[in-house]
Amino acid sequence: MSRLDWTSHTGRALQGNVRVPGDKSVSHRALMLGALAEGTSHIRGFLEGEDTRATAAVLQQLGVRIETPADGERRVHGVGLHGLRGTTQALDCGNAGTGMRLLAGLLAGQAFDSTLVGDESLSRRPMRRVTDPLAQMGARIDSEQGLPPLHVRGGQSLHGIRYTLPVASAQVKSALLLAGLYAEGETEVIEPHPTRDYTERMLAAFGWPIDFAPGRARITGGHALRATDVAVPADFSSAAFFLVAASIVPGSLLHLPAVGLNPRRTGLLQALRLMGADIRVENAHESGGEPVGDLVVRHAPLHGIELPQSLVPDMIDEFPALFVAAAAATGRTVVRGAAELRVKESDRLAAMASGLRTLGVAVEETPDGATVTGGPVGGGTIQSHGDHRIAMSFAVAGLVAGGPVRINDCSNVATSFPGFLALANGCGFALAEVHD
Ligand code: S3P
Repeated sequence: MSRLDWTSHTGRALQGNVRVPGDKSVSHRALMLGALAEGTSHIRGFLEGEDTRATAAVLQQLGVRIETPADGERRVHGVGLHGLRGTTQALDCGNAGTGMRLLAGLLAGQAFDSTLVGDESLSRRPMRRVTDPLAQMGARIDSEQGLPPLHVRGGQSLHGIRYTLPVASAQVKSALLLAGLYAEGETEVIEPHPTRDYTERMLAAFGWPIDFAPGRARITGGHALRATDVAVPADFSSAAFFLVAASIVPGSLLHLPAVGLNPRRTGLLQALRLMGADIRVENAHESGGEPVGDLVVRHAPLHGIELPQSLVPDMIDEFPALFVAAAAATGRTVVRGAAELRVKESDRLAAMASGLRTLGVAVEETPDGATVTGGPVGGGTIQSHGDHRIAMSFAVAGLVAGGPVRINDCSNVATSFPGFLALANGCGFALAEVHD
């Protein structure tokens, strides 16, 4: 297969309405809970990304009927908590850390064995953070050096534990809660900093008793999930690229309708405002139990900040975009306490530091962060390292660069944001595909 590169040039001022696709985290969870529920759940606003489609395909391999009545919709015919069927085929999670980690928890409680595999990037990502606490619950999951593939042994009897997460992670919390559905007694997860609580909210919406508050969640096994309809909000993490783009390109004004504004996701909004950005929330309301609103972003001169460390977990996926904002700002932006970025789809601290340096931006990388000194951004060729968010962030950098920015290997943008190129070009980007 040929490699897909992009070139990004300075375009015009960004204008218009940008409707970004559905939330990835919510889409994964809606599929999984829908599959384990009794009855049929209808998901609207489903993300048609490779990551979420991989999760749907895995559940289909496990005997769940999932229909696609229209683009962005799924009808999941739940099989009940004990209705999944085992398969000897490997279950391919693609690029999706969320898919693999949550499925590891879900599969730990089944009667059958299963094997979870992933692509090259996922096969390098640490899994002990889920397999260790799951083992404490009685699960048996074999892997080599804590890396995928994960061989999950069925027929284990799980018991609840009280687990304090060493690192804030919604994926680990969610894996334990999903295993907790099958566990005897109480499963309680305590977080060092609250993380996105979609699993907790959705378990409640599917009728499972759960006690949760920011930073902790507790369930007991032995109940049932009842099918429900899920309205997936637009993904704040996808909106993030447009928030940064419009902030840094003079004359821009973008409207981003109906974006999910769960406070555990919107750290970038606060960070950009601290940098001087002009972003307003209009029409704030609740949809499907989640805060949602329209974002209106206008160009504004940005200045560097010392990023408050308390914001880090609430913007964990937005650092590539933040670093581009920092490059286009005046002064220094300092990020600390973000070592988790090294184990995302790529080492995002290294990938952003080397890419920005290629474009002539001064970046000092530290073990848990970076200092970016804003200044002129030049053209050049950078590596995405197969990471969707790195690719889209450098597409944004190209808008303010002195020459074309070529981004190698952009095909994984389809994991989270199919249609990014068309949507971006529709509002003023000058982004072109280059097939090698
Ligand atoms: C996610 C949690 C975060 C995030 C990822 C999605 C989720 O990962 O980076 O994109 O849906 O639970 P961690 O739990 O590893 O922080």
